[in-house]
Amino acid sequence: MKKQQKYLKQLKKKIQYHEYLYYTLNAPEISDIQYDLMMQELKILENKHPEFITFDSPTQRVGATPLKTFSQVHHKIPMLSLDNVFNEKSYLSFDKRIRNRLSNDNNLTFCCELKLDGLAVNLLYKHGKLIQASTRGDGIIGENITANIRTIRTIPLILIGDNIPKIIEIRGEVFMTHIGFKKLNKNAKYYNSKIFSNPRNAASGSLRQLDPSITNKRSLSFFCYGFGYITGGQLPINQYQCLMQFKKWGLPINNYIELCYNSKEVLDYYCKIKNKRLNLGFDIDGIVVKVNELSLQKKIGFIAKSPRWAIAFKFPSKEQITLLKDIKFQVGRTGVITPIAELKTTNINGVNIKNATLHNIKEIKRLGIHIGDTVIISRAGDVIPKIIDVLIDRRPTYSKEINFPIYCPVCNSVIKYSEDDTIIRCTNNLSCAAQQRGALKHFVSRKAMNIVGMGDKIIDQLVYKNYVMTISDIYYLNFDILSKLEHIGLKSSKKLINALNKSKKTTLTRFIYALGINGVGAVTASNLALYYKTLDSFITSDIKSLKKVPNIGDVVANNIINFFNEKHNCNIVNTLIYKIGINFS
Ligand code: IVH
Repeated sequence: MKKQQKYLKQLKKKIQYHEYLYYTLNAPEISDIQYDLMMQELKILENKHPEFITFDSPTQRVGATPLKTFSQVHHKIPMLSLDNVFNEKSYLSFDKRIRNRLSNDNNLTFCCELKLDGLAVNLLYKHGKLIQASTRGDGIIGENITANIRTIRTIPLILIGDNIPKIIEIRGEVFMTHIGFKKLNKNAKYYNSKIFSNPRNAASGSLRQLDPSITNKRSLSFFCYGFGYITGGQLPINQYQCLMQFKKWGLPINNYIELCYNSKEVLDYYCKIKNKRLNLGFDIDGIVVKVNELSLQKKIGFIAKSPRWAIAFKFPSKEQITLLKDIKFQVGRTGVITPIAELKTTNINGVNIKNATLHNIKEIKRLGIHIGDTVIISRAGDVIPKIIDVLIDRRPTYSKEINFPIYCPVCNSVIKYSEDDTIIRCTNNLSCAAQQRGALKHFVSRKAMNIVGMGDKIIDQLVYKNYVMTISDIYYLNFDILSKLEHIGLKSSKKLINALNKSKKTTLTRFIYALGINGVGAVTASNLALYYKTLDSFITSDIKSLKKVPNIGDVVANNIINFFNEKHNCNIVNTLIYKIGINFS
């Protein structure tokens, strides 16, 4: 071997070694500048002697030519998914199922890992060289993304160390760190290009680039968690030791892998990771618990698409991808019309989700959403699910733009749009059935007049059959009318009449709240009642005095004034007090 060629080989080895220290062990021995200098030297030498360039050279991570399409890769061993649990009870059933399947569970150990929120990839190493990388696809057939994977610095092009099998498939997750994600979106904003809604989508979008030089610019990371096909060598006898072996070969694993010996330890691990979750610097959506011994894994076996010996124990609240089937415009109690997305039913943390809110027209325009789109929905805690992003790449040819309504979908009167498209409202306050229904439901509700037995189904019929148009009308209902309705028997009709009579004796707070003035919730109503003490002084209040009431600003004060400026509203209040006899204690 020529002297120069030998030197080049040594230089490459040295760089690879420092990459291993930096990326895999997280323990660099040299500074970034020293590393850059070595790379520069290598580039210069390779320029002079292109005949010495090898496939595993650190300079060769980014391929020159973009692809036309990704070719298909058949997975020799399917890439499976994991069954999920969302709470302690379901986790304990998994633990029990495992123990029941084993004749002896004395030495049962679990390998606990992070559930990384990225994309599964399969790395094929032949004689220690990375020769192919593929996505999971449908588990059987994936896409060949070798050129893109080669740009990820943490993935070794060549394995180092001893006992490397002739052929081994390493499986793991490609993901984007929070820092990488922020940087990408900041750039995207600057150049007016696509903003990604979360690091997972950003990682997915980056991996599926036909031009590897684009992938190269995105900071993608990788941790391995398993293996596929293997021949010409042997692996250790359990999952934990396998991962430690992979690390010795230069493959990155994360520092949170732990062995647990019983379910209490697993639950402690779950809590520990859940608390650390926000400080990891990358997204995870739970933990993965795997039976540690490979021989026991084999005994316990698989169901259709997932192993029986492993489970994903997910953290609450996350996002999900689903299909937008349609958008309906719903008219609320105050006439405000909100777009509601009808979704293909999906499940977030064990809750089935069929609808999501889209807030307003401005939001629909911002998202550029079409019917037929694949959308990302998010459900944080108990709040109503919302659509947070659209996967434009997946838009089908039959997708339809959204037609914004001109007329109220319930009463057909003209809709008024606010200048900035944030509020659209039906202008027909008095006789829009949706508003009538909404006002009535609010009036009878628990914190308002508390009319027990007056459920939604009864109100819907009363409005539909024109027995009730305004809130005061409900006090004119009689036994004859009520008993003829559906969903209510004779006994319940009697009870309802009693409830109506009983509700006439109420408090000023309840009455003010029951009127349903925009922005006057239960707390504000109570503040108003405390301040004004009588209904008369509340009705005759002015802006100045209203603003003295705690938590009342310009908007709500104006809403109150406008409410009593409407003759119709004053008539209703007069009827309720003087004709029906509502009184306050
Ligand atoms: S093991 C046979 N371990 O979760 C078991 N998967 O729902 C196959 N994932 O497609 C996977 N972290 O993308 C395993 N520590 C981990 C994981 C993990 C994330 C992903 C992986 C897989 C999906 C299964």
